[in-house]
This record gives sequence, structure tokens and C-alpha cells, in this order.
Amino acid sequence: MSEPVVAIVVAAGSGVRLGASVPKAMVPLKGVPLLRRSAEALVAGGVTHLVVVVPDDQRRAFGVALLGCPVPWTMATGGARRQDSVAAGLAVAGEWAPPHRVVLVHDAARPLVPPEAVARVIAAVRGGAPAVVPVVAVADTIRAVDENGSRIVDRSGLRAVQTPQGFDPDVLVTAHRALACAGVVVTDDAAACERLGHPVSLVEGSTDALKITTSIDLVVAGAVLDDRERRATGSPQP
Ligand code: C5P
Repeated sequence: MSEPVVAIVVAAGSGVRLGASVPKAMVPLKGVPLLRRSAEALVAGGVTHLVVVVPDDQRRAFGVALLGCPVPWTMATGGARRQDSVAAGLAVAGEWAPPHRVVLVHDAARPLVPPEAVARVIAAVRGGAPAVVPVVAVADTIRAVDENGSRIVDRSGLRAVQTPQGFDPDVLVTAHRALACAGVVVTDDAAACERLGHPVSLVEGSTDALKITTSIDLVVAGAVLDDRERRATGSPQP
């Protein structure tokens, strides 16, 4: 049996930008909640235990979405900011999960991450990297804006960062404690580790792992699923 790989799935955000009446992670994509799709993608990529971070008043609904999930899972209560939710998930993982040398942090809002991308992150942490992020090239032309105007940025040197991000659990726990002590806000977990001087390794991400933020993202994600289905059944393009 392979060594445990624990994933913290942060799912405690609201659905405000999506205009949804339920938390974003519970919004259905072709009938299946984003959270459920994220959980299954992680398991297919090698995750063995899940800590799902949820809004405190939504435990029952989230539990229903996870019924029949093929690996052991538990819940943690989310915080005001994403980094608070990750810290809450790490605290629960430390008590609940078996000893593990790899922890992933994944946004429930990235339901279509391919298992291969998850596996690349896990392999890099197993290979000794303390912090690993999946990245993709930036397709748009980018301008940097400041009080003096704007200027073009060479996009060949830019990468967009996705999840799941992978870590040595000791490194990530220490990094989050340091954030809390210093009162610092970061946009992702790799940045928290980088603050303490840990190198961040990059692996290839996937454009399929788009983050669902607004309703157009749900339309695109639905098209990605249709395309996957066509490829799986060998059907021609429409
Ligand atoms: O809001 P955004 O899409 O950037 O959030 C990224 C992920 O973090 C989502 O899966 C969301 O549910 C989660 N989150 C959280 N707790 C918060 C804010 C966001 O678990 N307080």
C-alpha cells in the first residue's frame, strides 16, 4: 500500500461572485457539486485522505455531497480568509490523518484538475521538494499598471499558479504558524513557505484546472467535460 497523501480541500468560500445561492463548492457542474468533482480528481491522482474545510453552518449539506467518497475524509470549519481555512484544515489533519510526508492544498473551486497534474505535484514532494506548485503559461498579453501609466510585461517569463499545491507537512504547518504570528496575508500557500526561505518548485499544471469564479467559468468547465466525454467515447467533434 502506498504512503498516505493528505489533501486539504478548501471549500468554505461563498458563491457571491458566482451569483449562487449556495456556497461555491456546492454549485453543481453538470449535476455534480464542484467539491465532489474536486475530491474525485484528487483521489484519482493519488490522494488517500481528505480534510474538507467547510462553512460551519453547512456541514450536513457538504457531508451529503461527499457520501460514498472512495477515501476516508473528515471536515474542518473554515475561517474568514482562505489562509485561515487552510490553517484550520492543517490543524485537523495533524490530529486525524495517519503520519504522512505529503500534504496537498486544493481549491474546491478547481473541480477539473486532471489526475496527472495531481500526481506530478505528489511526485515532486516525494522527490524532496518542500513546496510545489502547478503552473501554466500566460496566454493573454499583460500590462503592468502604476501611477505613472502602464507598460507591457514580457509574458514569456510569467506563469499562472494553480492548485493542488504540495508540501512537506512540517514546512507548511510552520509557514502557516509564522503567518499567524506576523499577521501577514498571502495569496497562496507556496508564498507562505517562500517567506521562510523555502524554495518553490514548479510542475506542469493544466488549463483544465481553471478556477470557477464567475458564471462564464461554469460554461467553460461544462465544455471541458463535454470534450472529455467525446474523447472517452471516441465521438466526433460537434
Ligand atoms: O474565493 P476564491 O475562489 O479565491 O477561493 C479559493 C478557494 O478557497 C475556494 O475553493 C474557496 O471555497 C476557498 N475559501 C475558503 N475559505 C475562505 C475563502 C475561500 O475555504 N474564507
